[in-house]
Amino acid sequence: MKGISKYHDNLGGTMFPSTITPQRMASIEDNADRLGLPRIILMENAGNVVSKTMKGLLGGASGKSIVVVAGTGNNGGDGFVAARHLTGEGARVEIILLGTSEEIKTKEASANWNVASNMTESIKITTIHKELPTDVRDRIQGADGIVDAIFGTGMRDVIREPHSTVIDAMNSAAGKKLAVDIPSGLDPSTGEVHDKAFRADLTVSFHQYKVGLVGRKEYTGDVLVEGIGIPPEAEK
Ligand SMILES: NC(=O)c1ccc[n+]([C@@H]2O[C@H](COP(=O)([O-])OP(=O)(O)OC[C@H]3O[C@@H](n4cnc5c(N)ncnc54)[C@H](OP(=O)(O)O)[C@@H]3O)[C@@H](O)[C@H]2O)c1
Repeated sequence: MKGISKYHDNLGGTMFPSTITPQRMASIEDNADRLGLPRIILMENAGNVVSKTMKGLLGGASGKSIVVVAGTGNNGGDGFVAARHLTGEGARVEIILLGTSEEIKTKEASANWNVASNMTESIKITTIHKELPTDVRDRIQGADGIVDAIFGTGMRDVIREPHSTVIDAMNSAAGKKLAVDIPSGLDPSTGEVHDKAFRADLTVSFHQYKVGLVGRKEYTGDVLVEGIGIPPEAEK
């Protein structure tokens, strides 16, 4: 794939790199924090990777319209960072937050939301609380690129609204689709889809291949695994 250095064709079989559970990933992030690496730096690195990957997927970001659909967890935080980086690539960027800014769960995601919200000339911000307005649906479906930052390893139970309707709108869009860490709706531990899930052209997963991605190409598309600066000592 043009512009993308390494990716795995997610067909199953023996070619997979080693996988990681969401629980193990969380403990590695805790260890990195204890080593003095703040989570906000990991989020910055993750968002930068997403931006570069989207640029590769689109064959260049300049002048392209990119919609980042974000949830209120750290997956959404990665999306806020990616949106900022994509503006630097000359893209026309919109963040669609599924929820209110008060519902953003972590201080790292909140900090990056605040930056994005202050970028009033380069990022369009839309928040959706209940139904998906027609004009927002149209912008999702007309975008050159769609970033799924709704939820990653923190997904639980049945997908609520408006998330469920928005995933349908994203799936029926024509633009290139990129999932952040894991497609929203895919169980990060088992790969099960209880109701529906985002169908990506490409999933960029951080640090290590999340176990739920294995053999789920219809949802993940190709899978790219990228480092986000976690020290090897954090693996212990
Ligand atoms: N921590 C780090 O250092 C770090 C480093 C790199 C990347 N990341 C990113 O962070 C992600 C994990 O972040 P996270 O633990 O905050 O979890 P998350 O994947 O962002 O998901 C949690 C969010 O999704 C919502 N949610 C969960 N299930 C839902 C459902 N069924 N319907 C609607 N909303 C639902 C939660 O809201 P409720 O709580 O209200 O249900 C919460 O806002 C990773 O996948 C990765 O992308 C983190």
